[in-house]
Amino acid sequence: MAVAAATAALAAGLLTVGSPAGAEDVTPRRVDNPYAGAQVYVNPDWAAKASAGGGSAIADEPTFVWMDRIAAINGTSGAMGLRAHLDEALDQGADVFQVVIYNLPGRDCSALASNGELPADAIGRYQTEYIDPIAEILGDSAYANLRIVAVVEIDSLPNILTNVDPRPTATANCNTMKANGNYQKGVGYALGKLGALPNVYNYIDIGHHGWLGWDDNFRPFADLFMSQVIGNNGAGAEDVHGFISNVANYGVLHEEHFNANTVIGGRPVREAAKWIDWNRYVDEVSYAKAYGELFTQRLGHRVSMLIDTSRNGWGGPNRPDGPSSSTDPNTFVEESRIDRRIHLGNWCNQSGAGIGERPTAAPESGIDAYVWVKPPGESDGASEEIPNDEGKGADEMCDPAYQGNPRNGNNPSGALPNSPLSGHWFQAQFTELLRNAYPPL
Ligand code: BGC
Repeated sequence: MAVAAATAALAAGLLTVGSPAGAEDVTPRRVDNPYAGAQVYVNPDWAAKASAGGGSAIADEPTFVWMDRIAAINGTSGAMGLRAHLDEALDQGADVFQVVIYNLPGRDCSALASNGELPADAIGRYQTEYIDPIAEILGDSAYANLRIVAVVEIDSLPNILTNVDPRPTATANCNTMKANGNYQKGVGYALGKLGALPNVYNYIDIGHHGWLGWDDNFRPFADLFMSQVIGNNGAGAEDVHGFISNVANYGVLHEEHFNANTVIGGRPVREAAKWIDWNRYVDEVSYAKAYGELFTQRLGHRVSMLIDTSRNGWGGPNRPDGPSSSTDPNTFVEESRIDRRIHLGNWCNQSGAGIGERPTAAPESGIDAYVWVKPPGESDGASEEIPNDEGKGADEMCDPAYQGNPRNGNNPSGALPNSPLSGHWFQAQFTELLRNAYPPL
């Protein structure tokens, strides 16, 4: 191949750097932004529920497929298995397939709603019964031309940074997981195994701005990732394509009427308004971009940033249409903020939320895509014990009567009542999400 053509092919990401002069390497290479120009797979299981639930306007949107337990790999009643989804993706002519890897030992250590099937010490089973079979299916040459976006183990690493001793937000289960190292080992294994497949794009969860945005958390999280995950159990820097914020959360893309440094009554709202409470970030785009820059430096290659916008719309009658005129910083922020939650730490089936921006490639500089990781209409968790074989418990954060804990500043939960188990269809929430969509449907 002529030098000019080879250079063009390299730039397009089609050749492997270092292939012998003249020899064409046909190994598929990762492209810079897997979403650029791509048709993304639509999950027919979700689409059918969305249509039946009054959401035909959004039923053709791509949502992630969740591998939330070992049985999900082969499929469960009412949910296709991984191969069936991949085959369907080929039938659709899709370029991108999106999957969530979510089954760590001792999963969801700061809550009970999405506890999983594997006990805290089951790292062996995680590797052999969960990651290995997934890697084998994804590695099937039939799927080599699909770009597979894998969101790896949401909530896990943020939890072992913030919800551990000596912080007041600590939980016994997060202390256990930090001490046994199985989140770090499991994520390392998943990154290494999946990253060995040239068409898999691994994305690591960075929580959201209302979790790791504070100085106490922001850089320490990057330190934890670099020192405890990279180099652990098979993970290398090249196995990380990027990071994702706001998974299954409700943080807005842009607080349109203020930023952390807006001065009201002579003081920046960052220090004067309780809602912000010294956070550097008031919204997801500013936060994700900042992490993009930090991890690009730390990993030594450009990292790709995604944001989950499935439920961060906050439209409807309570959306402020301009900044407050108050000169009291607290009143100003309360009256101006688009995120209408009672507290940023609230996460379960939030009352008043709406569908957010529709999935979009390269929506603005520094962000590679808005995606829908949490399928709208699927519950975040139940407030009452519901017998199940998925490991899921009842969580008070899903009970509107609950008055909170240190992780949400001891505030009411803001949850909708009578929710089903996490992942199960919650029609009342879906109806509200459609009604409060922003941009409107
Ligand atoms: C649940 C999973 C579910 C996912 C998507 C999580 O909270 O634990 O079981 O697949 O949400 O709805």
